[in-house]
Amino acid sequence: MGPADLRKALEVLPRASDPNVLVDASTLDDAGVYRLGPELALVQTVDFFTPILDDPEDYGAVAAANALSDVYAMGGRPLTALNILCFPDSKLSPKILEAILRGGSRVLAEAGVALLGGHSVSDRELKYGLAVTGVIDPRRIWTNAGAKPGDELLLTKPIGTGVLATALKKGKLAEGHRAALTASMLQLNREAAQAALGYEVHACTDVTGCGLAGHGYELAQASGAALEIELSAVPLLPGALHWIERGLKTRGDTVNRDYVQQRYRVEGRPPKPLVDLMFDPQTSGGLLFAAPPAVAAPLLAALRAAGAIHSARIGRVVPPAESVLIFR
Ligand code: CO
Ligand code: CO
Ligand code: CO
Repeated sequence: MGPADLRKALEVLPRASDPNVLVDASTLDDAGVYRLGPELALVQTVDFFTPILDDPEDYGAVAAANALSDVYAMGGRPLTALNILCFPDSKLSPKILEAILRGGSRVLAEAGVALLGGHSVSDRELKYGLAVTGVIDPRRIWTNAGAKPGDELLLTKPIGTGVLATALKKGKLAEGHRAALTASMLQLNREAAQAALGYEVHACTDVTGCGLAGHGYELAQASGAALEIELSAVPLLPGALHWIERGLKTRGDTVNRDYVQQRYRVEGRPPKPLVDLMFDPQTSGGLLFAAPPAVAAPLLAALRAAGAIHSARIGRVVPPAESVLIFR
């Protein structure tokens, strides 16, 4: 079962009839939004996963950065969080558990988010993550749905966490590449989101498990448009190209190609590994913005100045077509 099957199963969920539900799962968005008043809404999300790093404190910290990201990707401000932990108590020492929770708490403190509690169950496989609640101005919510043909696409973090985490699991990742991978996943999307709040943004999502292709596909579909991506402009983590060239794909590669229903087209003759990286599943990836052309240059400068130093213009929004994604 992949994300496409899951989406299908989710269709049995009743559509919210409460007029205060401003964003729900139906637009494939990062988080749900519930209006409390004319100027205030709740933004809520949950995310958890199995370890992607061998250091337990880093794993906990990345899980927290990743969970917070869905609030930032809507333009919201996270306020509170609850831990979710599935823990094989017979196999792992309490020290590991403590390190994971310490990592998560460290990132929450950095983000100014209060931990209110959580829940743990014993399970065969370790999983950790958080449910996060924030606030947002209901008059300015960044969804997937507002991109317009002519908009430029900006991405705030380099791609390649999936393939690099796989190399790490196999014990093959060079120390420098491992450090860059960890640093990128630990970087909060807060600064980039805050910087972008000062500009006209038509759509935004964070880039996570479905890869740049999958999340770009969601944004394009929700907006009734297509995306053209300049592969050579997409920022990559050091080592990502090396490992993808050696065929080190994750299972997510196939899943993500199915997810976009093969509705992508490659123009010209770009190197195949660059196309492959579009399907690499990301953890705690960057924000993908669609913004009007006049805004793109100042927004890019603001993102870089805010610390998202790898931010780049990676393509544009084009009218809807048979191919939802065009890689060139
Ligand atoms: Co998201
Ligand atoms: Co998420
Ligand atoms: Co969004």
